[in-house]
Amino acid sequence: MPLLDVRDVHAAYGLSRVLFGVSLQVARGECVCLLGRNGVGKTTTMRAIMGLTPPTAGQVRWQGREVTGWAPHRAARSGVGFVPEDRRIFADLTVWENLEVAQRAAAREGRWNFESIYQLFPKLRELSARRGGNLSGGEQQMLTIARTLMGSPELLLLDEPSEGLAPLVVEHLLEQVRLLRDQGLTILLAEQGVDFSLALADRVYVLEKGSVRHSGPAEELRRDEALRNSLLTI
Ligand SMILES: Nc1ncnc2c1ncn2[C@@H]1O[C@H](COP(=O)(O)OP(=O)(O)OP(=O)(O)O)[C@@H](O)[C@H]1O
Ligand SMILES: [Mg+2]
Repeated sequence: MPLLDVRDVHAAYGLSRVLFGVSLQVARGECVCLLGRNGVGKTTTMRAIMGLTPPTAGQVRWQGREVTGWAPHRAARSGVGFVPEDRRIFADLTVWENLEVAQRAAAREGRWNFESIYQLFPKLRELSARRGGNLSGGEQQMLTIARTLMGSPELLLLDEPSEGLAPLVVEHLLEQVRLLRDQGLTILLAEQGVDFSLALADRVYVLEKGSVRHSGPAEELRRDEALRNSLLTI
């Protein structure tokens, strides 16, 4: 049984239809990547899973139970952690305070606490007295991920973590997400950055105009440049 099972999900913003029957599965311990250009529906797929944009048709199943359109706080409480693309940290609070708020809000006990977070992100320990608004883009991304980890998710939805970051910062972030993956955390990653995704993913789904155009092992795309180009370049 997959941990997450998305079956033929449709979604819309008002009258504007965006997803047209997206199906995908994520097994425990897997790192799965949603690839695709601007505006193909990667974020909407994650929002549909979280219940932020409830599907208009289809099913979302979590650990074998149907949860389609559940409330986002229920998703979080049930172990689905969402790291949105817009890095919503509290700019006026320090790094430590941001993490403390997340810890208080966490409805689940798990292996994540200040100590384990600071071990994964030593930089955040150094910056613990700095205000969120004074962090660099890469530091804010770390803090956003750290905050979500405080809720001890079983599945981490990571939306475009590398967006807008300098190449060296992306390298560093990649190492940290790889550590999370190697520690057994299940990850669904949405990325336009092909190198970033293929460096991490076990399997990929390539979206195009709100549908799955291709799915398969990441290895296939790593090996086959022609396939990669045909699926992912304009
Ligand atoms: N709040 C919204 N209201 C109306 N339309 C929206 C809204 N958010 C997204 N859309 C539209 O839905 C489509 C899919 O958007 P979505 O954000 O899911 O794509 P994406 O693959 O995440 O893109 P990106 O790579 O830019 O993050 C796009 O055409 C977008 O313009
Ligand atoms: Mg997006």
